[in-house]
Amino acid sequence: MKQNLLKKMLLWVGLIPNSRFIAKQLTQPFGSKAEKFGKLMNKANDKLYKNIIDILEIKDGEEILEIGFANGRFFEKLFKKNKNIKVSGVDYSEPMVKIAREYNEDLIEDNKLDLYYCSSNAMPFESKKFDKIFCINLIYFWENAEENLQEIFRVLKPGGKFYACFRLKDCLNKLPYTRYWTNLYEVDDWISILEKNNFTDINKIIINEHQVEMMGHKVQLKSCCTIAERV
Ligand SMILES: C[S@@+](CC[C@H](N)C(=O)[O-])C[C@H]1O[C@@H](n2cnc3c(N)ncnc32)[C@H](O)[C@@H]1O
Repeated sequence: MKQNLLKKMLLWVGLIPNSRFIAKQLTQPFGSKAEKFGKLMNKANDKLYKNIIDILEIKDGEEILEIGFANGRFFEKLFKKNKNIKVSGVDYSEPMVKIAREYNEDLIEDNKLDLYYCSSNAMPFESKKFDKIFCINLIYFWENAEENLQEIFRVLKPGGKFYACFRLKDCLNKLPYTRYWTNLYEVDDWISILEKNNFTDINKIIINEHQVEMMGHKVQLKSCCTIAERV
């Protein structure tokens, strides 16, 4: 009882962030707290990153795009797997792009990595450019999944693959801030959206993350990574 009152007071004076603020930061990190939220995401998503790096099966010479890279900590993991690749990234949070550019300065100078401040529904790339496109914890924020998927389809090479990694609706519903996000998905809902947008050969990998600390909440998490091909 006393603890609840203390929490309410801390929320009221702004000493702990409320759910709406957390939701907004995770959707599009902004202002002076963006850097802190970037680091919190790295901590909460570490297990997921380790799985995804293997799922991507990076091969020599591939052109790869990450959408929603936030503070850009995943790029070094890609290059650790295979140095002989070319990587691009897009994110529509200005502070995140700045922080990611600073963190990955050497890769950018070596012409191995290009980072863009833009939205995934209008990307500054020629058609059929990428062998692989991936996103981690992004699809919940799309107001119109269709227009984003069409743009991804456009910039993927024929035979190229799109990897979408996301936490499942059932477990995200246990976190108070996810009610402010646009869309949560179960696996089949998401797969039917991919199919409607002409992706084929869709496979799914379920990742059991067990207990994860998410912005101060301990939850049992389950994620899915869909792998879909562009004809
Ligand atoms: C929850 S964070 C995930 C960060 C990172 N991928 C991870 O899992 O740790 C979502 C990131 O995607 C970016 N983002 C969300 N919607 C986007 C869009 N439509 N276009 C580009 N970036 C987007 C946000 O700015 C934010 O940096």
